[in-house]
Amino acid sequence: MEYLDMVLNETLRLYPIGGRLERVCKKDVEISGVCIPKGTVVMVPTYTLHRDLDHWPEPEEFHPERFSKKNKDNINPYIYLPFGTGPRNCIGMRFAIMNMKLAVVRLLQNFSFKPCEETQIPLKLSAQGFILPEKPIILKVEPRDGSVTRA
Ligand code: HEM
Repeated sequence: MEYLDMVLNETLRLYPIGGRLERVCKKDVEISGVCIPKGTVVMVPTYTLHRDLDHWPEPEEFHPERFSKKNKDNINPYIYLPFGTGPRNCIGMRFAIMNMKLAVVRLLQNFSFKPCEETQIPLKLSAQGFILPEKPIILKVEPRDGSVTRA
């Protein structure tokens, strides 16, 4: 379960469903010499931050170990933002994480997933809105030991 948590975090780093966050500035402010007038919509580029070489060695590689017990304390919570942050962060975060873990465990208890001829490699992302695959992800599914159990 510890490794599953790492895999899930790393998946959300490479594919954060909300590729950017937005906030409306409530009052005129100056941050590091940049003036932001009241009412400005400020965009936080989650997708780009999640692949920023200054923060992630080999950013395009899938390395769940980034989120290991040993390494995860070095992750800046304002750089890794799959569920946003602050008072308006994702209200469903814990519910979503629990459900993703349950679904993955249930599937992996019974099946192995392998790439096949129709699998798009490398995976291309849709250019619109949320971070989604351009086409459905097609994989070969094999029963692990031929005995599929029921819930
Ligand atoms: C993997 C699944 C999910 C991801 C990656 C995700 C991600 C996000 C992100 C990035 C935000 C914006 C946070 C911000 O601006 O700081 C958000 C907001 C929100 N999410 Fe999720 N979400 C997920 C699942 C869910 C689920 C399952 C629910 C409800 C059961 C939910 C309910 C909400 C709500 C209500 C907001 C708006 C919160 C507010 O404006 O105060 N999300 N989510």
